[in-house]
Amino acid sequence: MFTPPFSSDAMFNRKGLMPVINADKDGNPLPHPAPKAARIFADSATRADIEPLYRAGIINGITTNPSLLKKAGAKSWDHAKQIMRDLCTLLRPHPVSLELTELGEEGMVRQATELSELGDNSVIKVPIGGYRAVDPSADPYTGLKVIRRLWERGIKVNTTLVFNTTQAFWAANAGAVYVSPFLGRLADYGSKHDKAEPLTSGNSLYWVKDHKNAAGDENTHNSEYVASGGPLKDAGARLIFEIATVFANYRITTEILAASIRSPVQLTECLLAGADILTVPATVLATVADHPLSDEGMKAFAADAKAFGK
Ligand code: E4P
Repeated sequence: MFTPPFSSDAMFNRKGLMPVINADKDGNPLPHPAPKAARIFADSATRADIEPLYRAGIINGITTNPSLLKKAGAKSWDHAKQIMRDLCTLLRPHPVSLELTELGEEGMVRQATELSELGDNSVIKVPIGGYRAVDPSADPYTGLKVIRRLWERGIKVNTTLVFNTTQAFWAANAGAVYVSPFLGRLADYGSKHDKAEPLTSGNSLYWVKDHKNAAGDENTHNSEYVASGGPLKDAGARLIFEIATVFANYRITTEILAASIRSPVQLTECLLAGADILTVPATVLATVADHPLSDEGMKAFAADAKAFGK
């Protein structure tokens, strides 16, 4: 389990600067004991998963992506847009992240405008990098340029596919209102590639071409800070903590939206590390209230209550 090395005043003070806080279904501030708590979003495009969670007040936002739309049954671009519009209408005024599928700067700006018209609560998801992986001649600054242009037009951006603190800082600097570090994929990567380096599990925070790790895998490398074990061992939680620290240092109000979450343990780690929002798959949300000892305790209470007719 990740343990933060200290609790920073800067982080606490940043919370006070944040433009949004935990809110009720209509978007009003919650007059309950956790008004500044991390918000919970559903990481899904499937209305059947989302609607009961939303009606119960468990989530107040959604993140989608092309894979989640495919899973929700989208068969064409028009059908995908219909699903996205329906989700925006359901969640209004809470944010719904909709991801761009275009790859070139002009096409992305055009598509962002198209998606932003699906609902005034839409947020446009822009991948921070990876453009050259799809098209070697692509401009490596595509994502940053698009984020800046959308900021200039008043379109809110959630920067996606964030795996290191540098990416998060540059996205915020370009004008993104959310950054989405992908914890689970870092952990998946770590368990797949880092068998020979158990102390640095998930050590793929930084990726350097033409490097082989101890297992002989190419193109994987960790910063010296991480390679030395760092003060923190879990790459995903450390990533959140690093971003939260940098954002606090510079009073950046871009929200840290912890994504790609696989388990309740990761949820706790994100909260310890200073995430502003957790986007959680319905399968993980279904487990957050459970514990084997809660089960045992409930069975015993239910059995004993029979003694007095309840
Ligand atoms: C969130 O915005 C991302 O789309 C999502 O969390 C990715 O999760 P995955 O790694 O389970 O695909």
